[in-house]
Amino acid sequence: MIVLLAGLAMAAAPPTWSGSVAAIVHKNCAGCHRPGEVGPFPLLTYEDAGKRAGFIAETCRSRRMPPWKAEPGHGSFFDERRLSESEINAITAWAAAGAPRGDAQAEPKPPEFHDGWQLGKPDLVLRMVEPFTIPAEGRDIFQVFVIPSGLKERRTVAAMEFRPGNRRVVHHALVFLDGTGQARRKDEAHPGPGYSTFGGVGIMPTGGLGGWAPGNFPRRLPDGTGREIQAGADIILQVHYHPSGKRETDTSEIGLHFTPKPAEKLVSNLPLASRDIDIPAGEPAYKRSVRFTTPEPLTIIGVTPHMHLVGKEMKVRVVKPDGAEIPLIWIRDWDFNWQDTYLFRQPVQVPAGSRFEVDALYDNSAANPRNPRSPPGRVKWGEQTENEMCLCFVAMIPHSRESLGKIRQAAMRQLMTPGMLLRFLGGN
Ligand code: HEC
Repeated sequence: MIVLLAGLAMAAAPPTWSGSVAAIVHKNCAGCHRPGEVGPFPLLTYEDAGKRAGFIAETCRSRRMPPWKAEPGHGSFFDERRLSESEINAITAWAAAGAPRGDAQAEPKPPEFHDGWQLGKPDLVLRMVEPFTIPAEGRDIFQVFVIPSGLKERRTVAAMEFRPGNRRVVHHALVFLDGTGQARRKDEAHPGPGYSTFGGVGIMPTGGLGGWAPGNFPRRLPDGTGREIQAGADIILQVHYHPSGKRETDTSEIGLHFTPKPAEKLVSNLPLASRDIDIPAGEPAYKRSVRFTTPEPLTIIGVTPHMHLVGKEMKVRVVKPDGAEIPLIWIRDWDFNWQDTYLFRQPVQVPAGSRFEVDALYDNSAANPRNPRSPPGRVKWGEQTENEMCLCFVAMIPHSRESLGKIRQAAMRQLMTPGMLLRFLGGN
């Protein structure tokens, strides 16, 4: 009897900070919630977390934190930021019990972070040419910086590591390539470092190196594969800055690790896009889809969905010729502020004749709190805040260069309007 009662008492005892909650918070929150990082306050010690227990429990239960937009069961990704039900229950019970500390002596120490290059010393470090100043207040800034690669010959990259110069303000970054000089000319035509854009980078890039968001870790591509940088190409770095309340400056860097010898298999971005967007004011459920059938087999290693502010949902899948479906990603509550490049734990093999399906949903009603316009207005395709996009980049490895050419051709035929094609070919 006594044993049974003790058992019940133990089951009912609320979790404590030192017993279990600290470990959950350190593992899932501290990466962003520490001094100098994007999180608005640190969550390292009992003092940090105890006083915010109710707020923490609420954001975890609603899955607002940690920020992770991909629905479970639709793709399995590296660096998933997702609490388990039991972790959420522990935090909720801890907060409901008044955030007990437990045995302060037994408390786990906050994790240590090293902010140097995560993959070791890169072969080539490319830095923003000048520091960029972010004012204390105001709207988020999307700035494109053009950094000459200085490469005399074509190289293939096994890994790209983006290192934010100022983590308080750098919200995310996308890295593209331009072998045409268009971005350079645009930069020269604008005063100050770089030029500002919102959705895209203002030109049609000739390649891509990936992206970064807080909580992402750089990764090497599978052996024998690489991303190509043409000789003399410029690196196009788009950084999303979020003002911190203080005037800040940033000089971010990119580290490149080249493949030991030129990679045979190249990683390319397949843009699955529709420009056919015209959303009536007030429309709560506007749908757009993209279909693309690949003429060649390929391997998918990642996806980067992209919409703007009234974008609500995006589902991407592959339907194989035998009808079998492979879910790639489902974002049910799109948030422009948390755009990630999602990398699959297991590369996805796609046979020739498979159909890519992108289904996007937009809410242009007044009831959408993310709608930038009040009252809502007509929304058309474009790169500005008040425009929308329907785009998912698929990072893929075709089986050969020839195969890549065929996929590109098919993609141009099926996905691009004449205007887009012209820009892609450098005609504009
Ligand atoms: C990938 C970075 C990241 C991780 C990981 C993260 N946060 Fe956050 N958190 C943020 C940012 C950035 C904000 C500011 C609001 C926003 O941008 O959504 C924030 C805001 C918050 C807020 C305030 C919400 C509000 O409405 O102002 C709470 C509470 C919070 N986080 C708790 C947590 C907890 C608890 C965890 C871990 C379970 C966690 N966060 C993990 C980046 C992160």
